Amino acid sequence: MKTHFFNMLLATFTIATSILSLQAKEPKKEPKAVLLPAATDTQPTFGIGKRTFLMNGKPFLIKAAELHYTRIPQPYWEHRIQMCKALGMNTICIYVFWNIHEQEEGKFDFTGQNDVAAFCRLAQQHGMYVIVRPGPYVCAEWEMGGLPWWLLKKRDMALRTLHPYFMERVGKFMAEVGKQLAPLQLSRGGNIIMVQVENEYGAYATDKEYIAAIRDLVRKSGFTDVPLFQCDWSSNFDKNGLDDLLWTINFGTGANIERQFSKLKSIRPDTPLMCSEFWSGWFDHWGREHETRSAENMVNGIREMLNNNISFSLYMTHGGTTFGHWGGANNPAYSAMCSSYDYDAPISEAGWTTPKYHLLRNLLKNHLQEGEKLPEIPAPLPLIEIPEIKFTEAAPLFQNLPFPHIASQIAPMENFNQGWGNILYRTTLTSNIAQGTFLKITEIHDWAQVFADGKLLGRLDRRRGEFTLKLPKLKAGTCLDILVEAMGRVNFGKSIHDRKGITEKVELFKDNQTTELQNWQVYNFPVTHEFAQNKLYRQINTITTPSYYKTTFYLETTGDTFLDLSSWGKGMVWVNGHALGRFWEIGPQQTLFMPGCWLKKGENEIIVLDLKGPSKTSIRGIKKPILNLMRENKPATHRKKGEDLNLEKEKTIMTGIFKPGNGWQEIKFTQAVKGRYFCIEALSAQDGKGKASIAEWDVLGKDGSPISREDWKIRYADSENIHRGNNTADKIFDLQESTYWTTEAKTKYPHHIVIDLGEENIITGFRYLPRMEKNYPGMIKEYNIYIKEKDYNY
Ligand code: GLA
Repeated sequence: MKTHFFNMLLATFTIATSILSLQAKEPKKEPKAVLLPAATDTQPTFGIGKRTFLMNGKPFLIKAAELHYTRIPQPYWEHRIQMCKALGMNTICIYVFWNIHEQEEGKFDFTGQNDVAAFCRLAQQHGMYVIVRPGPYVCAEWEMGGLPWWLLKKRDMALRTLHPYFMERVGKFMAEVGKQLAPLQLSRGGNIIMVQVENEYGAYATDKEYIAAIRDLVRKSGFTDVPLFQCDWSSNFDKNGLDDLLWTINFGTGANIERQFSKLKSIRPDTPLMCSEFWSGWFDHWGREHETRSAENMVNGIREMLNNNISFSLYMTHGGTTFGHWGGANNPAYSAMCSSYDYDAPISEAGWTTPKYHLLRNLLKNHLQEGEKLPEIPAPLPLIEIPEIKFTEAAPLFQNLPFPHIASQIAPMENFNQGWGNILYRTTLTSNIAQGTFLKITEIHDWAQVFADGKLLGRLDRRRGEFTLKLPKLKAGTCLDILVEAMGRVNFGKSIHDRKGITEKVELFKDNQTTELQNWQVYNFPVTHEFAQNKLYRQINTITTPSYYKTTFYLETTGDTFLDLSSWGKGMVWVNGHALGRFWEIGPQQTLFMPGCWLKKGENEIIVLDLKGPSKTSIRGIKKPILNLMRENKPATHRKKGEDLNLEKEKTIMTGIFKPGNGWQEIKFTQAVKGRYFCIEALSAQDGKGKASIAEWDVLGKDGSPISREDWKIRYADSENIHRGNNTADKIFDLQESTYWTTEAKTKYPHHIVIDLGEENIITGFRYLPRMEKNYPGMIKEYNIYIKEKDYNY
């Protein structure tokens, strides 16, 4: 018996050594021998060994490419999978997006573009394994993080908790996912090797019971033959970690990789290591600079992981496009995502190779495991230009009102059984309104235009916290219209409970008197092509906004192109019935990806809904995307003109010195302090230079745990880098550890941030997270803290 056992160990050891020797030129670690399940010819196995994954009993490194089938037109799935294979990957990692499969409660759709099983089978045909992440919550910059909007019809809904209705619906969804994908597990002849339970739950709450319940539903749906895993951040993975699940860590390009895994290694020394989301780039928001990440840094990170036997999934390897209305948003501060999900990934939005692709391929070609081959890179898909398409017909929205609901009180869109699109709230003023009265709307989700008898009075934008409008003199009997466009539902943090339209009430406010407006007619404008098409279109004489515009155009050849929307205001586009996405003149995105597979030889139909109005009613198809042209003034800094924080007469609550290094530091005050305005005064940097940066900041409340940051605002920051999308001061409480505040390049210490906590709090301390990189740039050394009930002098 003993001899047999020893022989098996030896055999495994020999196999493992020969595999590792394929990984040319890299320093080799002594492979660990482990007792493995024997693989047979007929039944491949995937499992977890000691510090490694095991494929058919042999050590196996997962090199996964994250792709989203929803973000790639179905006819292009195969091309993108082949691109990933030719990059040197061996696995495709996907989310399953609940809300696209169950758009109406109880009606599931897994066909055509939604046929996730067909996507997995295609991957298998190309020799790729699949990792499935069925949520139910997925984040992914996707509307509501993948949760269906209709869950919000219940007023008491508590998403991602054991709320009975939420769990009942998750159970039904998971069962459907099981029907589609459980037969595709490796053991059953498919290619699925792992399944994820929930998604980054540590960034949302601490609730092991909930995670355990989701795990049980995943198993119950049939995923019994593959390892289940949880992904989180290095700072919070242990909060909800279940003993029987594998734990993986998410982090991005530039992160200090050793540090990312140090805690996990100390808790579970024998676990295989995997970065389940290594962020290749980042996503774009409307009104913020286009994001990029260095190719060298990304490839260096992957090299480090390969050298240390760390599996990874490159999020995104190909981001693609968030078509239609499926883009999500972040909050606080509310900020909706662009339609392009290019992500600065190795494979561009239209499926092209990039310098990142070639650099990574050069690395991965030296890390092929037994049986892996590097195919040729597939040819790019045909590209065309479309000469100017002139719009001939328009259907003004106000002349095409659908049948209204009658409501005495205002209510969000969900209450009128509408999920997405625009909603018009109309009332008639019952008395005269004096000049200077304010219209106060609680709250606008997300972008509103206010009209009096059809005349535009103003626009309000949730991104900027604009919820009041100064009214002119108006007569009783005036028809007041508030047209609200819902942009993406928040996909991260507690704000995913993001009801749309007007969430609570509309008031008139003057001389300390408020009157709530009542008796509304409510009109729904859904986002379907049928709805947009089925309007009374007339020849365009003058431009009336908002309007739907329609025309046809002829093509002799089809191919991919980018529709140039730069002369249009704000809205959505449909071509041949396919919803291409949202556009907004402010940028940075100015073009919409138009996949050639949705175009036809001969006549094509295009419809544009423009809420704000075009300067020119024509569109061209061009050969290059424009993703980085900002046409809104740079995001305002939080320091108003002429302001200079004066702390001379203020009392310091605490003076301290941070330890150098990555990771959170928690500081407790000796005595609790009461206050609303929290001022951080950074006096010096660890590297002695002029820059300061903070990735995240928490304030500890009465019970010693972090208080909610949902209502926080930055009152003041002495300096902010506004040339990049994610470096303003509000990034210290945007719940994302990988985005950060940083001061401008040539500034000097001291640096200051004042946070308005929204209300008075009992404060017992704070937590500071510096940037994730190895050399922690801009890390603060000496600091002072001030806390006051009233604001400071500037
Ligand atoms: C997290 C989420 C992903 C995605 C990325 C950022 O890691 O798990 O779904 O939102 O952040 O792109």
